[in-house]
Amino acid sequence: MLSKLLQLVAITAAVSQILADDMAGTSVGNYKDIGNGVHVPGAIPNNKWEPLQHRLAYAGPTGMSVSWNTFAQIDEPTVWYGLHPQKLDMYVKSNTSITYPTSRTWNNHVKVTGLKPDTTYYYRVSGTNGAGAAYLPTYKFKTARPAGDDKPLTIATFGDLGLMGRDGLSTKTGPIGGDNYTDIGEYDSNTIQSLLQSKDTYDFMYHVGDIGYADYFLKESVQGYFGISDNATMPTIDEVANGYESLSEQFFDQMVPITAEKPWMVLAGNHEANCDNGGVKDKQHNKTYTADYCLPAQQNFTWYNHHFAMPSAESGGVSNMWYSYEVGPVHFVSLLTETDLGAGNPGPIENVKGNMNGPFGKPNQQIDWLKADLASVDRKKTPWLVVGLHRPWYTSIQIPEIYTAWQKAFEQIFYDYNVDLYLTGHVHTFESFKPMFNGTIDAAGFNNPRMPWPIVQGAAGHYDGLDQYDGPERLNGSDYSNDQVYGWGKMTFHNKTHVTYDYVASRNSSVVFSQTLYKEHNFGAANCTDGQKILPKMQKKPPKVNARASIDF
Ligand SMILES: *[C@@H]1O[C@H](CO)[C@@H](O)[C@H](O)[C@H]1NC(C)=O
Ligand SMILES: *[C@@H]1O[C@H](CO)[C@@H](O)[C@H](O)[C@H]1NC(C)=O
Ligand SMILES: *[C@@H]1O[C@H](CO)[C@@H](O)[C@H](O)[C@H]1NC(C)=O
Ligand SMILES: *[C@@H]1O[C@H](CO)[C@@H](O)[C@H](O)[C@H]1NC(C)=O
Ligand SMILES: *[C@@H]1O[C@H](CO)[C@@H](O)[C@H](O)[C@H]1NC(C)=O
Ligand SMILES: *[C@@H]1O[C@H](CO)[C@@H](O)[C@H](O)[C@H]1NC(C)=O
Ligand SMILES: *[C@@H]1O[C@H](CO)[C@@H](O)[C@H](O)[C@H]1NC(C)=O
Ligand SMILES: *[C@@H]1O[C@H](CO)[C@@H](O)[C@H](O)[C@H]1NC(C)=O
Ligand SMILES: *[C@@H]1O[C@H](CO)[C@@H](O)[C@H](O)[C@H]1NC(C)=O
Ligand SMILES: *[C@@H]1O[C@H](CO)[C@@H](O)[C@H](O)[C@H]1NC(C)=O
Ligand SMILES: [Fe+2]
Repeated sequence: MLSKLLQLVAITAAVSQILADDMAGTSVGNYKDIGNGVHVPGAIPNNKWEPLQHRLAYAGPTGMSVSWNTFAQIDEPTVWYGLHPQKLDMYVKSNTSITYPTSRTWNNHVKVTGLKPDTTYYYRVSGTNGAGAAYLPTYKFKTARPAGDDKPLTIATFGDLGLMGRDGLSTKTGPIGGDNYTDIGEYDSNTIQSLLQSKDTYDFMYHVGDIGYADYFLKESVQGYFGISDNATMPTIDEVANGYESLSEQFFDQMVPITAEKPWMVLAGNHEANCDNGGVKDKQHNKTYTADYCLPAQQNFTWYNHHFAMPSAESGGVSNMWYSYEVGPVHFVSLLTETDLGAGNPGPIENVKGNMNGPFGKPNQQIDWLKADLASVDRKKTPWLVVGLHRPWYTSIQIPEIYTAWQKAFEQIFYDYNVDLYLTGHVHTFESFKPMFNGTIDAAGFNNPRMPWPIVQGAAGHYDGLDQYDGPERLNGSDYSNDQVYGWGKMTFHNKTHVTYDYVASRNSSVVFSQTLYKEHNFGAANCTDGQKILPKMQKKPPKVNARASIDF
């Protein structure tokens, strides 16, 4: 039984490290709430209508999508809201309470519309006063700043954030993962904790794919992480599904102190759909897991599209797969690197035997949409143009797969439409490049470059720890790289011309790297070169880095 102290600790979910240490070695999947009004992360509540896993997403400047999960279906998911915490005098209902085979929960989605931009609202969802939910506060959210509002904007951004604590990344790292220094130290904060501590300093979170890593259940099992490595019986598909759902539930529980009040804009990574179970070899049972243990959740982004509600309707995008949104001085574009790369160019997990994903649009639909979306941006209103996409093409860790597909699909378009910078993950390190295009570094550096600035920010942390560079060699253009510190990006758009990316070390929330980009953004002026298509002079190809055979990103 959990102690009283642990129950209290559980309320702030993100401190799951303590649970991790206390309960190491127990199996996942079937905790029960104690039934006294406190939800334990990952536990199955006694009251199946208890609202859990609250999460928000911008739906234009006057809307907010409110989502949460319950262990039973709800008839009409409802959000009560208002401008004062004691006066929730408005409500909106939906009929969206959806699930998929093997899920233990229902995903409830309500879109609140007709709100004032840049305004704080208080809200409660169905069941907040029900049995077991007495601990739940009335939450609040703030709507997006309208496009053109040029006050400074700060966001938190990262990729590849997994479950923390007992069943995820903790003071121990998976055996295949990094070296010992990628374990989280006893007194260090993990990334979820650091994001929580800094919650008041950013407007929203932008998560560029690989969300939770629930698909690592089988890998963690066969590697003995749950204490069952010497088990003669292979887990059945039902047990794997149960374990997967438990990891997913725990992850959302850990995020909820942040995601109930800060929009969490997400895009899809390979771990939202691939079925190789982390590429794991089960030596004991002489088996390499592939698509034969593929759960419905991991097929064709089923888990991902049930859980999230990104503003594609508002931006002409497709489900959560590609869409755009604007906040203050920035136009953000979220892309899909996994499928739908256009021009008959199959995405990396599109036509995989036993694990078919996509397409989500007609041939070229994503590419055509991207061009039209970028062309429609009013740079006088939103001078900053930022793209998020999961897979990078510049990284000093060799990606052991054909990785020109998404570069071919997107890089030229970014250049043509003057994208300022793009945020990627997938590789579990932090690496910032000089502004560059097609392997060539912009001679202007960060002082009004014509080329976009590539940033790899896949080091938020998950079970396997961080990826490691093989040595000191780096790709040409690499300006700063870090394979030792979990972290996240704090980006501040100061004004029309200056943006700063700070890489924050999660362990102590200190800034370990800071780079400011200056862009003149003098759109419309006679001397403006931003709109011109100047192809750079090609230079020598970057040196090849050594291939590493078995990295799973
Ligand atoms: C939900 O569906 C029911 C039955 O079709 C309908 O009567 C009700 O108006 C719907 N509610 C909302 C909020 O759409
Ligand atoms: C990690 O730490 C363990 C226990 O301290 C030690 O046995 C092992 O050799 C270390 N591994 C590496 C790669 O340093
Ligand atoms: C061994 O695995 C089976 C099936 O996955 C499970 O039911 C059983 O509890 C496991 N035994 C141990 C000792 O972990
Ligand atoms: C492991 O499986 C492979 C292919 O299924 C088979 O060829 C091999 O003999 C097996 N090895 C052992 C030790 O059973
Ligand atoms: C994946 O989902 C999309 C959208 O629903 C659908 O068009 C596509 O056919 C699906 N692909 C597979 C392989 O099921
Ligand atoms: C990109 O660089 C390659 C050689 O590295 C060159 O063949 C190609 O034409 C370049 N593409 C563009 C659009 O400049
Ligand atoms: C790296 O790029 C710079 C600028 O594009 C170029 O001057 C330099 O020769 C390149 N170095 C290598 C090793 O390719
Ligand atoms: C924009 O912000 C930067 C960084 O804070 C500052 O140095 C610069 O003076 C500002 N520019 C204007 C026009 O205010
Ligand atoms: C915080 O962590 C970073 C990254 O490990 C380290 O370089 C720095 O010294 C730490 N700062 C303090 C005050 O401990
Ligand atoms: C372009 O003109 C603006 C004034 O309209 C000036 O501030 C800026 O420095 C000029 N830029 C260049 C590159 O000449
Ligand atoms: Fe990935």
